[in-house]
Amino acid sequence: MTVFKNKNIILGICGGIAAYKSAELLRLLIKQGAQVQVVMTQSAAEFVGALTFQALSGKDVRSALFDLDAEAGMGHIELARWADLILIAPASANTIAKIAHGLADNLLTTLCLASKAPLLIAPAMNQQMWHSEASRENIEILSNRANISLCGPAEGEQACGDTGPGRMQEPAELLACCANLLETKISNNEQSDLYPLQGRRVLITAGPTIEDIDPVRYVSNRSSGKMGYAIAQAAQQYGAEVILISGPVTLAAPENIERVLVRSAQQMHQAVFQSIAETDIFIATAAVADYRPIKKIADKIKKNADKLTIELIKNPDILADVAARADKPVTIGFAAETNDLEKYAVDKLKRKNLDMIAANKVGESAGFDSDNNELHLFWHNEEYDIGYKKLPHTSKKQLARQLIDEIVLRLVAKS
Ligand code: PMT
Repeated sequence: MTVFKNKNIILGICGGIAAYKSAELLRLLIKQGAQVQVVMTQSAAEFVGALTFQALSGKDVRSALFDLDAEAGMGHIELARWADLILIAPASANTIAKIAHGLADNLLTTLCLASKAPLLIAPAMNQQMWHSEASRENIEILSNRANISLCGPAEGEQACGDTGPGRMQEPAELLACCANLLETKISNNEQSDLYPLQGRRVLITAGPTIEDIDPVRYVSNRSSGKMGYAIAQAAQQYGAEVILISGPVTLAAPENIERVLVRSAQQMHQAVFQSIAETDIFIATAAVADYRPIKKIADKIKKNADKLTIELIKNPDILADVAARADKPVTIGFAAETNDLEKYAVDKLKRKNLDMIAANKVGESAGFDSDNNELHLFWHNEEYDIGYKKLPHTSKKQLARQLIDEIVLRLVAKS
């Protein structure tokens, strides 16, 4: 991955059993050509020795804020400026809380406050600590900061014997997260753009549609709208004028975003086409019902018969219709798949004439309604084949920002 060549990375290590994996992470970063300065908190030193990191990085490990010798070499403000990226792995609940509230009581938290570099946090803690109200609030604060990204935590067995979310992401996954950030955030920032979507109009569909059978029954799906609303918010924070066309959800309308509420696929189609002409980017996150009952029965159907057949007819495909326009905006679709994700996603990318597709696995505990997700992006690259990037499992708010970063980098910057 050439993206790491000559990049300066601060690897922050907090106290936690996962700290032993940071040595492998450091090895991978160095192997990719990055310059890495390791910064350990006092608690980290209780779990792992600094010597390993010193040997792997070829640099003295920094840990004290008030260290005259180290400061004489590269002062902490200089170090903060030196960094192209700060990666904290593992990030403890304590350090996460400090960063969320702007504390600077050790070298690592001071660097976070003093640096303009993107900050990638890989949380690692006991699952109950992760679920605690305080941690939830702190993560929410970090999720809303433009320069902060989260990678993980992963779910599974924990050192303490519990099972659940809180394991640090594996080093290879973290390397991929760093590559994503270096490729998107930094190159987008190099274009000196804090608001890369300024002056652009973005139209987003979100949530489910409801197709009525009779006055009390309907056909729908489990979409909560969380993914689409997070994308709308991210696009607005990047400077875009956003119109959100939403199916029925319980979410409040995001601030400074025009929201149009609809119920059925036909209504969503109509609302999209009322605004599409002046749209620069169209992102179809909605889980639109593919079929609707041929006609809505006027009165409640009585349960007299043993069998009941409801005839369905295909709904218009909003995304395909937008992409078929002569003045087509940059068009991004989603693909919700239970199996053969790549095959079906690439088929939709080509068949629907899209610029990019974000595929996600859906099922009982994935994709729909959860706060987290994982996206697999496919697009047509310059070599006329298919580009691919995975956005690893994290909060939908984080994914939304990462997706917008990718859209800016790969599609908008070129349009
Ligand atoms: O809302 P959440 O609970 O946060 O869940 C998010 C999500 C799982 C709904 C979201 O991440 C997602 O995958 N959205 C797309 C769901 C879907 O309908 O996928 P599909 O593979 O059936 O459709 C492919 C694409 O065509 C989608 O962009 C869809 O919006 C679009 N489409 C589909 C049918 C139709 N009639 N019109 C459309 O525009």
